[in-house]
Amino acid sequence: MTKTLVAFFSRADENYFGGAMRYVKVGNTETVVSIINNLIEADTFKIEMKEPYSPVYMTCIEEAKRGIAGSLRKLNLDYIDLYLIHQPYGDVEGAWKAMEEAKAEGKIHSIGVSNMSVALWNKFVPHVNIKPAVNQVEFNPLFQQKEIRALIKETDTKLEAWYPLGHGDANLLSHEIITTLANKYGKNPGQIILRFEVQDGVITLPKSTNKERIKTNLDIFDFTLTNEEMEAIRQMDTGKGSHNPDAPGVEEHLRSAFVIED
Ligand SMILES: NC(=O)c1ccc[n+]([C@@H]2O[C@H](COP(=O)([O-])OP(=O)(O)OC[C@H]3O[C@@H](n4cnc5c(N)ncnc54)[C@H](OP(=O)(O)O)[C@@H]3O)[C@@H](O)[C@H]2O)c1
Repeated sequence: MTKTLVAFFSRADENYFGGAMRYVKVGNTETVVSIINNLIEADTFKIEMKEPYSPVYMTCIEEAKRGIAGSLRKLNLDYIDLYLIHQPYGDVEGAWKAMEEAKAEGKIHSIGVSNMSVALWNKFVPHVNIKPAVNQVEFNPLFQQKEIRALIKETDTKLEAWYPLGHGDANLLSHEIITTLANKYGKNPGQIILRFEVQDGVITLPKSTNKERIKTNLDIFDFTLTNEEMEAIRQMDTGKGSHNPDAPGVEEHLRSAFVIED
């Protein structure tokens, strides 16, 4: 399995591995570590990882330091290119200080956050020294996060999209605006969506288990959507997604649902 996955990445000319410690679990640790180390041996890959969010990790700076050390040890890495706070609850400032220190020590090259709403951003970012390099949030043409995008521009923070294809949402992939453009450019709907996102300055992390789509999802740089077409896709925004970090009960659920083993 490891070899196959590495081959997929290599053939697709992918050069970025985005993951989260929450997804590195008993049963798949060896596979993930082996993939990452194979990619690094090829010397062309950058590794993004999210902290192992758990109630313990977010309680204080010392626990956050232990989490960072654990990520490096488990992944068998000297450094991680980009390290994110996966769910911004608990002692976010303590975790951030630990990440700033790890950056100063060269253990992390860039630091960022995920799932920061406008409210969470305003509570946290004004008080930190190093501003987040990225905020990874749900984003696709049906949920364009206009407020948070405008806000993070002020600190030159990049928006990274999770669910960039709406998690395979048929309402998105078969939307008339998208399918019309797919026909015009001889591309599939997923390629039109990803082209829109990249052309609009968003970093996308599409997922596919299909070998052909892994390749075609990268084949989006030989055409350009016109300003009118970009604007038409911008108008598809419904302002609603699947995850609202501020909704009642979400913090409690996320802080209690996952326990990461050392
Ligand atoms: N930070 C966070 O809290 C957070 C939360 C959720 C997800 N994420 C991350 O976001 C990334 C993407 O999430 P996701 O995989 O659920 O959503 P996604 O990339 O938006 O959608 C993936 C789905 O789209 C299909 N697909 C892929 N390429 C396609 C194409 N060209 N045309 C039509 N369908 C296509 C895939 O099916 P096939 O496999 O059959 O191609 C799969 O069902 C993941 O790496 C995930 O870990 C982060």
